[in-house]
Amino acid sequence: MATTTIEVDAAASSPRHAKLGRWVEEVAQMCKPDRVHWCDGSPEEYQAMLRLLVLTGTAIPLDSAKRPNSVLVRSDPADVARVEDQTFICSRTREEAGPTNNWEDPAKMKQKLAELFANSMVGRTMYVVPYSMGPIGSPISKIGVEITDSAYVVVSMHIMSRVGSHVLEVLGEDGEFVRGLHSVGAPLGPNQPDANWSCNAQQKYICHFPETREIWSYGSGYGGNALLGKKCHALRIASVQARDEGWMAEHMLILKLISPSGQVKYMTGAFPSACGKTNLSMMIPTLPGWKVETIGDDIAWMKFGADGRLYAINPEYGFFGVAPGTSMKSNANAMLSITRNSIFTNCAMTLEGDVWWEGMTAEKPAKLIDWLRRSWTPNSGRKAAHPNARFTAPARQCPVIAPEWEDPKGVPIDAILFGGRRAGIVPLVTEAFNWRHGTFLGATVSSETTAAMAGKVGQLRRDPMAMLPFCGYHMGDYFAHWLKMGTHSSAAKLPKIFYVNWFRQNKNGEFLWPGYGENSRVLKWIFERCDGKVRAKETPIGRIPEAADLDTAGMEIKTAQVDELLSVDIDGWLAEVPSIKEHFARFGNHLPEGLNAEVKSLEERLQAAK
Ligand code: OXD
Ligand code: MN
Repeated sequence: MATTTIEVDAAASSPRHAKLGRWVEEVAQMCKPDRVHWCDGSPEEYQAMLRLLVLTGTAIPLDSAKRPNSVLVRSDPADVARVEDQTFICSRTREEAGPTNNWEDPAKMKQKLAELFANSMVGRTMYVVPYSMGPIGSPISKIGVEITDSAYVVVSMHIMSRVGSHVLEVLGEDGEFVRGLHSVGAPLGPNQPDANWSCNAQQKYICHFPETREIWSYGSGYGGNALLGKKCHALRIASVQARDEGWMAEHMLILKLISPSGQVKYMTGAFPSACGKTNLSMMIPTLPGWKVETIGDDIAWMKFGADGRLYAINPEYGFFGVAPGTSMKSNANAMLSITRNSIFTNCAMTLEGDVWWEGMTAEKPAKLIDWLRRSWTPNSGRKAAHPNARFTAPARQCPVIAPEWEDPKGVPIDAILFGGRRAGIVPLVTEAFNWRHGTFLGATVSSETTAAMAGKVGQLRRDPMAMLPFCGYHMGDYFAHWLKMGTHSSAAKLPKIFYVNWFRQNKNGEFLWPGYGENSRVLKWIFERCDGKVRAKETPIGRIPEAADLDTAGMEIKTAQVDELLSVDIDGWLAEVPSIKEHFARFGNHLPEGLNAEVKSLEERLQAAK
């Protein structure tokens, strides 16, 4: 290939890491950007990039008195969510990717991508973004480098990960890093003006090469498709690294629960996308004296410490939260986290220069500009913000961020929560009998789909450990990895596992449980179970609180409602068993025997209770 001379910004342009330098050079020769910029991660760089986004029409500055240093970005309607059907795990064989992932032969996919990426950055700047997932210097953290032609991605990465020259220092001359290559797939002709939001409406490919720890993402500029540190690296590639190296990369929030007497328990929670992880991670308990502090709202990396306990870090540095439904009532701490220095995407804009979304205020504003830049009134008959509109904000701005949230050694986990959105049969909280049963509960997580992924909303799908779209290898092997992790330490040192469901409804389709801050009542029971201080009722599906032990003091809830929330519908569960078996059958001989044994015993216990 003939080499082209490409303008390179001076800062950090020749890294000490020869392999990194060669890779950047190769990518530049393939993508042919006008110039290459090495990101130093400085506040000045962030401001310069924001200005660029404003000048090119991608971002609108919000009113600086209302929301200082913040912008609104509206994407192309063809680029509004993660594209799961265009997301591929290109492991050596289809079998290694398993039945839940799209697979393509790595060589074939590389060839296709090389064609797409050739000249893809013409007319644009290619940014090199070195980042650390996790506190720099933590034994659990990992480094990645994202190459992108999107300034929006650069500013978002600044918020969502630790970006900059200090990362290159940690990388040294031969440190390992994940290679992430991203292009919006929209080269510019000589006098062609750039679009407000660039993407490729025809072709999108979000590809992972687990063996070589590479990500190639083409055609989308949105969220998890484009901010490669998040879903692509911290979950899909990291899950493979975690399997190989004996740790866990999970789609989990991390919270710290403090009792009135000042005792602390750390909990992680896996819930499918847009099921309230952010809300739970920064919840304000309604129970007097209890307090929640936040460590993370989306991803947990967990490793066993020398003491045999499981320690978790939040690999991220910011929140990329779903905006609609977020309000001072539903999540005051999220609202207070986004008062400044934030990026809003696909929200509506008020005439005063602020953002708005459905559910933010009890009363709708009389007039707005909707996310599609049209004038909007409450009578327009359509949503003003896209249902997957997002806020991006630094985690340190959260008023209840735990002081230890950046502790390099992580926090020791006492309880792991699983949950989903289920209108029927799943009780408010169930404790697993042991780690294997807990793995079974996680492996069978089911939930109604939300707007976080392209596709139909409200359909029931099994989303094991909330990792269905994020596991970088065969899900059956992932279950086996979970079971193996459970043999690392004695039961007393392992976190206890629970399954929660805030979304159970009565026959009239009304929610039985108010959720939000009231969920602290469930967390209290979990806290006390961890200390063995409260009873539990043995049922065929797990251990359930005695109604009297669920602290409902000061709450307006009928006894019958609590009973229904905690009831185990034996027939309903027996009817669920075939769908669990069908779900497990997908994993063929990769399904660990332990999980087969769990379905069998569940069925036997249910039969015996009939
Ligand atoms: C997210 C998701 O953006 O899970 O966190 O979709
Ligand atoms: Mn998520």
